[in-house]
Amino acid sequence: MEYRKMGRTGLRVSALCMGTMQFGWTADEESSYKVLQSSYEAGINFYDTANIYSRWVDGNPGGVAESIIGKWVRNYNIPRDQLVIATKARGRMGEGPNDEGLSRQHILKAVEDSLQRLQTDYIDLYQTHWYDADTPIDETLRALDDLVHQGKVRYLGCSNYPAWRLMEALWVSDRYHLSRYDCLQPHYNLIERQEFEQELAEVCEAYGIGIIPYSPLAGGFLTGKYRRDQTDGDSPRAGGKSRYFSDQNWALLDAIAEIGQEAGGYSVSAVALAWMLYQPGITSPIIGPRNLAQLEENLQAVDFRLTDADFQRLSQMTEWRKSEED
Ligand SMILES: NC(=O)c1ccc[n+]([C@@H]2O[C@H](COP(=O)([O-])OP(=O)(O)OC[C@H]3O[C@@H](n4cnc5c(N)ncnc54)[C@H](OP(=O)(O)O)[C@@H]3O)[C@@H](O)[C@H]2O)c1
Repeated sequence: MEYRKMGRTGLRVSALCMGTMQFGWTADEESSYKVLQSSYEAGINFYDTANIYSRWVDGNPGGVAESIIGKWVRNYNIPRDQLVIATKARGRMGEGPNDEGLSRQHILKAVEDSLQRLQTDYIDLYQTHWYDADTPIDETLRALDDLVHQGKVRYLGCSNYPAWRLMEALWVSDRYHLSRYDCLQPHYNLIERQEFEQELAEVCEAYGIGIIPYSPLAGGFLTGKYRRDQTDGDSPRAGGKSRYFSDQNWALLDAIAEIGQEAGGYSVSAVALAWMLYQPGITSPIIGPRNLAQLEENLQAVDFRLTDADFQRLSQMTEWRKSEED
């Protein structure tokens, strides 16, 4: 396994981060333990979760993925100091007026609940899941900074922030000498590039912010299991994939498969992840396999390097910037 520095920090994390949104949703508890254990044995040390996973499932109160991680670490005797555990707060966790958001009130409650479910006394990377337009950023950052000083949280990150909000947060941290966001978790993959590449990529590069893209396989589309003549899939997540069904994306999948075959039989998911790992600013794409077969295919990305020509070929096929001749 390759380990990379998380932005300008001294923290080293595996080149793939193991996501856990599928736990308690498309992966039951037993499958979740198997995936966690195999990923750890493969050298992954970086685990991403969120307090709300997976509250959208009927009968699921949220916190299920955090609880599964906590039980895995305890029951499998995993050395806590070898793991980098990332979780998030922001989403609604109860019916009360303060049971969501990024107020001091909610953050201080949310972190205690996450610590309890994770069965740990610190969180390595605490992330704001998406911005809260109703709370001043200095209130959020002061509450997070307090958690860093209390030792409950070690690094701060944010997810789903547009560039101006990330810049504002960096300025406010600088102005008030508060801990700053050292990691961004954006939505980013070969098909959905503009949201991250348009402005956020430059902010992260200029300020040394780690980048851990989520949905690097477009939620399963970039795995080769969807085809022109086989578009239904067997996944509960398949329904949302039809938005990707286009001639351009089928041609992209053909090219990815061809590159993988020519390189010696690498999976479609490995090539799609390798396109991301090729980019020097990217720290760790967050994968979300729900079983061991998917994990194996995703892990192939770690041993696979795209050639410059193949990187350019895939990038040109999904380019969103208009060329000057257009
Ligand atoms: N910050 C945020 O707002 C946010 C949002 C989303 C996710 N995340 C994080 O990012 C992580 C990854 O997100 P994601 O699950 O969308 O990532 P993804 O890698 O784009 O999609 C993962 C899904 O693709 C399918 N898949 C993966 N490998 C496969 C293979 N080899 N063959 C066939 N199918 C395969 C599986 O779904 P099926 O088998 O069900 O098709 C799997 O659950 C999450 O767990 C979470 O930690 C964060």
